Amino acid sequence: MKKLIVANWKMKPSSLKEAKKIFNEIKKVTSKLKKVDTVICPPFVYLPALGDSVSKQTWRLSLQVGAQDIFYEDKGAFTGEISVMMVKNLGANYVIIGHSERRKYLGETNEIINKKIKTALKNNLKVIFCVGEQERDIEGNYLYFIKNEIEEGLKGISRKLFKNLIIAYEPIWAIGKKGEDADNSEDIFQMSIYIRRVLLGIVGKELSRTIFIIYGGSVEPENAESLLKEGGTQGFLVGHASLVPKNFNKILKIAQNIK
Ligand code: 13P
Repeated sequence: MKKLIVANWKMKPSSLKEAKKIFNEIKKVTSKLKKVDTVICPPFVYLPALGDSVSKQTWRLSLQVGAQDIFYEDKGAFTGEISVMMVKNLGANYVIIGHSERRKYLGETNEIINKKIKTALKNNLKVIFCVGEQERDIEGNYLYFIKNEIEEGLKGISRKLFKNLIIAYEPIWAIGKKGEDADNSEDIFQMSIYIRRVLLGIVGKELSRTIFIIYGGSVEPENAESLLKEGGTQGFLVGHASLVPKNFNKILKIAQNIK
């Protein structure tokens, strides 16, 4: 099965020139990878330039661009917001929704996230839906927290739209650290089973098996192999390492070579 490796550039880099440079370095590698789908999610303002360059390539299916967010309305008086159609028209096929940084700094609630997921899926955009706990407690309450995030995020969404859904498990405590502080493969493995069980309750057995679950939180070349081999996930959502082409390309090659 193909792996999905998504780059979340967050609010970086500071110039289009730098963005193009990083992107082109990554593009050199993705064209050779048959077993990996790579998605770069840059800030909105770089999408026109990067989306354009991807759609002109014959290998466009192995390298795609995505947005880091969208608004839930199609159009109207919503100053500063960006619609699904706008990003689709710029070549984006994916969107990250519900990232913990948006939940924390922009006040996104499960209800808002649910509306965004609904709009994106209805319009055929692939959704990378982020969930993750702030901390773990020995009583295991964090498991209910994750379950609730998933159930509220997917509430009222038609089953037939779930083919375009990807769940990104990103424990907040593991984000933005060094590779050694990432979650360990065993925990991720257990969490991926747990998430699949939660999905089973929502979408049924067959569909729940096919939904991709990816991991994010301090993925670096050093831990990528063991996390992918033993973590039971189908890919990664990579933050800081995705802005360093040398490191991101190493992660892509590891994903390509995983048995
Ligand atoms: P880091 O890889 O920098 O920990 O970021 C993870 C993340 O938040 C990706 O969405």
